[in-house]
Amino acid sequence: EQIEKGGYEHFMLKEIFEQPKSVHDTMRGRLLVDEGVIKMAGIWDYIEKFKNANRIIIIACGTSWHAGLIGEYLIEEYARIPVEVEYASEFRYRNPIITDKDVVIAISQSGETADTMAALKLAKEKGAFIYGICNVVDSSIARITDAGSYTHAGPEIGVASTKAFTAQLTILTLIAFKLGKHNGNLGNAEFMSLIAELDAIPRKIEDVLATTHELVQNIAKDFVSATNFLYLGRGYNYPAALEGALKLKEISYIHAEGYPAAEMKHGPIALIDENMPIVIIAPKKGHYDKIVSNVQEIKARKGKVIAVVNKGDTQVSAMADYVIEIPETSECFSPIVASVPLQLLAYYIAVYRGANVDQPRNLAKSVTVE
Ligand code: G6P
Repeated sequence: EQIEKGGYEHFMLKEIFEQPKSVHDTMRGRLLVDEGVIKMAGIWDYIEKFKNANRIIIIACGTSWHAGLIGEYLIEEYARIPVEVEYASEFRYRNPIITDKDVVIAISQSGETADTMAALKLAKEKGAFIYGICNVVDSSIARITDAGSYTHAGPEIGVASTKAFTAQLTILTLIAFKLGKHNGNLGNAEFMSLIAELDAIPRKIEDVLATTHELVQNIAKDFVSATNFLYLGRGYNYPAALEGALKLKEISYIHAEGYPAAEMKHGPIALIDENMPIVIIAPKKGHYDKIVSNVQEIKARKGKVIAVVNKGDTQVSAMADYVIEIPETSECFSPIVASVPLQLLAYYIAVYRGANVDQPRNLAKSVTVE
């Protein structure tokens, strides 16, 4: 096992550090920047299904569901196809309206999650075209779907999903750009600039790992005894906030809530005092001014702000108690880059609390019972 961990103390840390490679592997052979092409046989062979779809329904559980929410932002923005995202367990039991004009995408690292599998079977029976985004090759979900794209993240051992999540985001980004290019909603110049930027994301993740690793460890030390955390973000980074909170809950057993930053006023703000740590994702692109006022509201109530900002940020950084800098990207890529320091933060808080990060209590890597 020590050999498999490759010198890292835990699989989770190894998997966090593998992300430059896993994101790159997921794009390899698919993203051809010089030719200006995204090659995805699973999409291309069934392009008419996607083109004529009334809507796309994404179903998943856990971290994969968070990836699905970001998929909704991506596909609606770039391909202008309506998207709904559902928990598999709710979808399957609520008699959903599904027709043969629907495309259902299931996202699952393991490809074995019982609720996701059952939801897919239901969609298939009702005539929908079903598509899988799985990490485990030849898994049950990969086999039952009409078509799909594998994430090539490699085996994920840590129960808390990290590299599978960023690989799922990579696939969803490729799908959104490919569909948008094909149906004319994404013009050539923008497409070319987006794919060049996507191609550079693995290097940005590398940069984040190198520049934030030690800093985040030090921040983690100050929050070992925290009992609650809030995670806030807007737009694409609202689901990233949900995922950041889930990571912390899963492995450190600290209660954490993710919220869209503006919704803070409708509840969580009542909890803010000097004992409440608040992680806020505040990159330059994506509602920055709005986030600035959210941070002002938090500081007025003495909350402890840990801000994830772009390099060179001034406004949020001036108010924050802790600042984690990430490189600037277009908004659609920021969840991939911003998730990395949040994974590290959850990891180190859990390690300092003496928790079993690779196998947290009560959780399973693959939930094959409903
Ligand atoms: C479990 C795992 C999570 C995972 C979820 C969905 O809860 O602990 O890490 O996100 O199942 O799993 P899947 O394999 O379908 O992505």
